[in-house]
Amino acid sequence: MTAPIDPTTTPAWAELSSARDGFSPDLRGWFADDPARAERLSLPLADLHVDLSKNLVTDEILGSLVRLAEQTGVAERYAAMLSGEHINTTEDRAVLHTALRRPAPASDPLVVDGQDIDHDVHEVLDALSVFAERVRSGEWRGVTGKKVTHVVNIGIGGSDLGPVMVYEALKPLADAGIQARFVSNIDPTDIAQKTADLDPETTLFIVASKTFTTLETLTNARLAREWLWAGLSASDAIADDDASRTDAVAHHFVAVSTALDRVAAFGIDPANAFGFWDWVGGRYSVDSAIGLSLAITLGPNAFRELLTGFHAVDEHVRTTPLERNVPVLMGLLNVWYTNFLDAQTHAVLPYAQQLSRFPAYLQQLTMESNGKSVRWDGTPVTTETGEVFWGEPGTNGQHAFYQLIHQGTRLIPADFIAFVNPAYPLSDDGQDVHALFLANFLAQTKALAFGKTAEEVEAEGTTGALVAARAFSGNRPTTSIFAPSLTPAVLGQLIALYEHITFTQGVIWGINSFDQWGVELGKQLALQIAPAIGGDADAVAAQDPSTQALLAYYQEHRS
Ligand code: F6P
Repeated sequence: MTAPIDPTTTPAWAELSSARDGFSPDLRGWFADDPARAERLSLPLADLHVDLSKNLVTDEILGSLVRLAEQTGVAERYAAMLSGEHINTTEDRAVLHTALRRPAPASDPLVVDGQDIDHDVHEVLDALSVFAERVRSGEWRGVTGKKVTHVVNIGIGGSDLGPVMVYEALKPLADAGIQARFVSNIDPTDIAQKTADLDPETTLFIVASKTFTTLETLTNARLAREWLWAGLSASDAIADDDASRTDAVAHHFVAVSTALDRVAAFGIDPANAFGFWDWVGGRYSVDSAIGLSLAITLGPNAFRELLTGFHAVDEHVRTTPLERNVPVLMGLLNVWYTNFLDAQTHAVLPYAQQLSRFPAYLQQLTMESNGKSVRWDGTPVTTETGEVFWGEPGTNGQHAFYQLIHQGTRLIPADFIAFVNPAYPLSDDGQDVHALFLANFLAQTKALAFGKTAEEVEAEGTTGALVAARAFSGNRPTTSIFAPSLTPAVLGQLIALYEHITFTQGVIWGINSFDQWGVELGKQLALQIAPAIGGDADAVAAQDPSTQALLAYYQEHRS
């Protein structure tokens, strides 16, 4: 195992520490003194235009950050990941989500641990495409012969957040008369509400679970199966016997998993199951067969276009020098803010309603990956690690929490994401509404960077104590990510961008960004507490006093 390099021992860290001492950012002055700053710090990333110029860095600081990446071995670690080394040390696994979007097998296929990865990936992708087309065309029908109108993806975490985020983002492309719904929470409200108006005869369930052991997903899958059987028998669509129920499941359930034996044990025909591999982390799996709901609703071509977008960014990261490497630079900026300027959170603010689920998706990607206190060799981290990622689409956020970003006491770096062309070009009395929306994006990043001085406030006629209240300090850092339109390829680029930002930060901190042991304890305890909530006295007695009191409250108020 390659030992992690303690970033705090590198010369670059010392350079950054001295740069931080007495650091006094001055975006107004920097732009005034250097008219080329915007152009110099705006970089292309496939179809994305990424403007880093409103970040709180000088060229010297950026140089030190790039040296930090060099001195902590970011490029070497990336090469190790791409070649299939087992960089997921705690699970002894390769990390090869980048292989999911490699083009069709070439003359030099990627072979890892004796497995022809390219062949396997494309075999599943082709099967997925064929199945998606069968559902879209109506060749695949429900048990009573009706065409599918709704697919319901049952999954959680990475088996939910990626598909639902992409579906919401690209829904305008859903062209086969098939809609998707997503059930994730074990709160029965979720499945009850999402199925309430559906017709069992035209509904196809996709049970998506990497492990096929996840409590929420298996519980919801069983509830969905009961709902299907009850609905079909109530209308006499199927007979009330085992053979008919098995037949109904074969027509209305498919699965995506790495554990095809467990899929079969659930009663889903293995012929209707799509596999993936343990070297794909759940939060990195939207571009695997986990995207089946997308291939069905948006079409296999759109799904493949999404993959090309991911691949373009993978290639950028692989081939671009660190000082022009956009995901690496954005990861380094996050390290600067987290470790030197004490930022604790990071806002992601899409100026696109279609990206309403993007911040939630990024929360799992970034926080499950880099929310760690030990390094990949088991030793404690030497710095602060993962930030809290959060956000809402503009302009909703403007009327909710932007006040704190503009005038609060905390430093909150923010990424703004916007698109030149809207999915729905509407106008209001001759005014292009999307242009108005974009004016808000530009106005916010400008206000955050340059603020408003007391003199400017006074020049508008304000006096006294109000002057301070109405002044804006500026120097609030933002990155602007702009693209022509939200196409599948552009969305793939955006997702891959954040995957690689997360990876860069993880390497610098010495973290294994690909395990998630921190979610295990709660899962185990839920299983232990389940009998207690069911009234088992021994199980209640085994709990701590606070949990016992909450259990007592539950029993007292149960209706
Ligand atoms: O919450 C932990 C986790 O393992 C996530 O990493 C994963 O995406 C999610 O649960 C769902 O897991 P699975 O796809 O195996 O059902």
